[in-house]
Amino acid sequence: MEKYLEVKNLRTYFNTPEGVVKSVDGVSFHINRGETLALVGESGCGKTVTSLSLIRLLADTADLKYDYMMVDGQEIKDLTKEEARQIRGKKISMIFQEPMTSLNPVYKIEKQLGEVFKLHEPGLTKEQIHEKSVEIMKKVGIPNPDERLKVYPHQLSGGLRQRAMIAISLASNPQMVIADEPTTALDVTIQAQIIDLLKQLQRDSNMSILLITHDFGVVSQIASRVAVMYAGKIVEEGMLEDIFRDPWHPYTKLLIMSIPGIKVTRGGRLESIKGTVPNPLNFPKGCRFAPRCPWALDICKDVAPEEMVVGNRRVSCHLRTQGKAVE
Ligand SMILES: Nc1ncnc2c1ncn2[C@@H]1O[C@H](COP(=O)(O)OP(=O)(O)OP(=O)(O)O)[C@@H](O)[C@H]1O
Ligand SMILES: [Mg+2]
Repeated sequence: MEKYLEVKNLRTYFNTPEGVVKSVDGVSFHINRGETLALVGESGCGKTVTSLSLIRLLADTADLKYDYMMVDGQEIKDLTKEEARQIRGKKISMIFQEPMTSLNPVYKIEKQLGEVFKLHEPGLTKEQIHEKSVEIMKKVGIPNPDERLKVYPHQLSGGLRQRAMIAISLASNPQMVIADEPTTALDVTIQAQIIDLLKQLQRDSNMSILLITHDFGVVSQIASRVAVMYAGKIVEEGMLEDIFRDPWHPYTKLLIMSIPGIKVTRGGRLESIKGTVPNPLNFPKGCRFAPRCPWALDICKDVAPEEMVVGNRRVSCHLRTQGKAVE
């Protein structure tokens, strides 16, 4: 399998009046061509900042560093604004968490789609742009595309708005998309349809997908590999089946147990994980999950665990390093 994207030791810190916010604090991962990697974790773990770092859509207060980054066979030395601009769109396109923040409310859908076509395929005539716009609207499952192109974003229903946004993200014909919680605001039927749509687009064009979500249920429907993020770090990564069958990190286990409908043999179903994600201004020393971990050992509170790699899996947890199971 060929890697499409790889990043090593990504650190994205924000300088704020309160101090340095370590939103992403040493993250490494890769995505193969045509593969879906899910990045899972609770709110505030650094999922969005990780993805925005890859295309450098960050506030000026951000300080971004990494040891190595490669996209589409090319090493990205320092991800300057110009390099980032070349990556965005054709190489990596983003589907944002909230459609209304990425669709421009004052322009009709046709104009917004047209801008993307103009940017990526200069020289298209007005008629060609219209044809392509209709075609992509159909592709993402929007009925009556001719009419829908003529409306403003707020005139569409939530589901169609999400699809319109996906159409705009795909108009640049990207080799990889980052889908940042494309489903949270939607009801379950639309959620399932969007996931089917992404799957189908992936089959048609061998696109890579980085799916960002806090919902392990969504992950199981689409991802082949899973990276679990907690407090600015990836704490566990592996193939979906392996992670589901036998989670190694307590955080992963608790996330899986909190999926509605999952039967837990001991202790019943867990509604949510107790406590909150630590503030990235001030992470606890030792394992960052230790204050919430029901299995924490003495060492966990003082010493940060080293990453352990076993075949195509990795985990950072003292329990696992000491050969203790999480039960
Ligand atoms: N521009 C910024 N300046 C300072 N801190 C920031 C900035 N952007 C994000 N953060 C902080 O970085 C941390 C990670 O944020 P991020 O948006 O990546 O979380 P997330 O995992 O995507 O959460 P959610 O599931 O809610 O979308 C949070 O504590 C957030 O407050
Ligand atoms: Mg987010």
